[in-house]
Amino acid sequence: MSEHFRVQGGARLVGEVDVVGAKNSVLKLMAAALLAEGTTTITNCPEILDVPLMADVLRSLGCEVDIDGDVATITTPAELNHRADSEAMGKLRASVCVLGPLVGRCKRAVVALPGGDAIGSRPLDMHQSGLRKLGARSEIEHGCVVAEAEGLHGAQIWLDFPSVGATENILMAAVLANGTTVIDNAAREPEIVDICVMLQQMGARIEGAGTSTLTVHGVESLRPTEHRVIGDRIVGATWAFAAAMTRGDITVRGVDPHHLDLVLEKLRMAGAEVTTSGHDTFRVVQHDRPQSVDFVTLPYPGFATDLQPFAIALSSVSDGTSMITENLFEARFRFIEEMVRLGADARTDGHHAVVRGVEKLSSAPVWASDIRAGAGLVLAGLCADGTTEVYEIFHIERGYPGFVENLRKLGATVDRVTA
Ligand code: UD1
Repeated sequence: MSEHFRVQGGARLVGEVDVVGAKNSVLKLMAAALLAEGTTTITNCPEILDVPLMADVLRSLGCEVDIDGDVATITTPAELNHRADSEAMGKLRASVCVLGPLVGRCKRAVVALPGGDAIGSRPLDMHQSGLRKLGARSEIEHGCVVAEAEGLHGAQIWLDFPSVGATENILMAAVLANGTTVIDNAAREPEIVDICVMLQQMGARIEGAGTSTLTVHGVESLRPTEHRVIGDRIVGATWAFAAAMTRGDITVRGVDPHHLDLVLEKLRMAGAEVTTSGHDTFRVVQHDRPQSVDFVTLPYPGFATDLQPFAIALSSVSDGTSMITENLFEARFRFIEEMVRLGADARTDGHHAVVRGVEKLSSAPVWASDIRAGAGLVLAGLCADGTTEVYEIFHIERGYPGFVENLRKLGATVDRVTA
């Protein structure tokens, strides 16, 4: 049976939308719970499939995990199993972040190579070389990352690139290492700050969260805690782009607008009226056809690669020509093939895309290749004449809790069809 979304073009999205916890934070926070014996509670969890999948990974390591609505309760035993179950691991990328906590706590880990979105090559060399610097042996054997150490010691680590996953794994191993670790060229994403805050509440000694130098003074042990996941900036930004593309008026609650400073500035350049209020609300109003704007993806605080499909989708209906440069995941440009089906005037050359805006897109059947590409196609369908059918929607549902309900609340005509 194939399930798809049927999206009616032409709606102007107007209203308010609440955004819950960040997918790319909650999964790492769940892994961080491995670092302390006892019961850790994580609130504001998004109700998406990846959360129960991550719960399965933790159960395979010996934890008891209960998920009740937006609350995950994880009870970690004194003795963890160091081997992460391959089936659950293969289903999501973030499962690799159990590697650091396992090496920290058990001094050994066997972790199947992770699955996740097909957005290009995703090596683990920086994760491994960081763990080696801390004193662990780390190899890929029979489809698994195998790491072992007599004991972990502090080290100076320079990352070639501010990788989110490598920063997280090294950080979560270093909190229990003997001595001080300095991670230079560390990732600065808000989700990294979120983990640092949780680890600090657990008793870790970390300085420099949100900067490119993280200093970690290892401690003997950590204690369990209760932590609220930060709002999902990528989901929040999706609604901001939806407002700009449909000449709508959307108020987004639950996301810190500072996490989207550059995104909101780009939308202002495209002609949107953007206002922020307090620490978790912003509003995007677009009166006229958007103006073309250039986008370059970079690690935070640059423009997020996860938002690149929305930059392409917006550019495809803007007035003028935009250049979009992708610096992180080459395969993300596959999305453009689907946009071309919808009548976009777009082409790529290496890691650049040139998009000439058209007045209106043309409805067509299209296929989602990952979470963000899928959501981008739905937004594009809202700007097309007629009815666009978006297939492979399981991708979208991995990242957007209540996507169809939210779209409908904002005035879109979207159906989830099982045929
Ligand atoms: C995370 C996010 C993903 C986001 C990405 C960049 C999760 C579950 N996923 O992915 O949504 O798009 O950050 O913001 O949080 N690299 C190496 N060697 C390594 C590690 C990474 O070469 O050892 C490269 C990657 O191929 C990529 C770049 O570094 O080109 C950035 O990857 P990274 O920041 O590690 O992304 P993820 O943590 O996998």
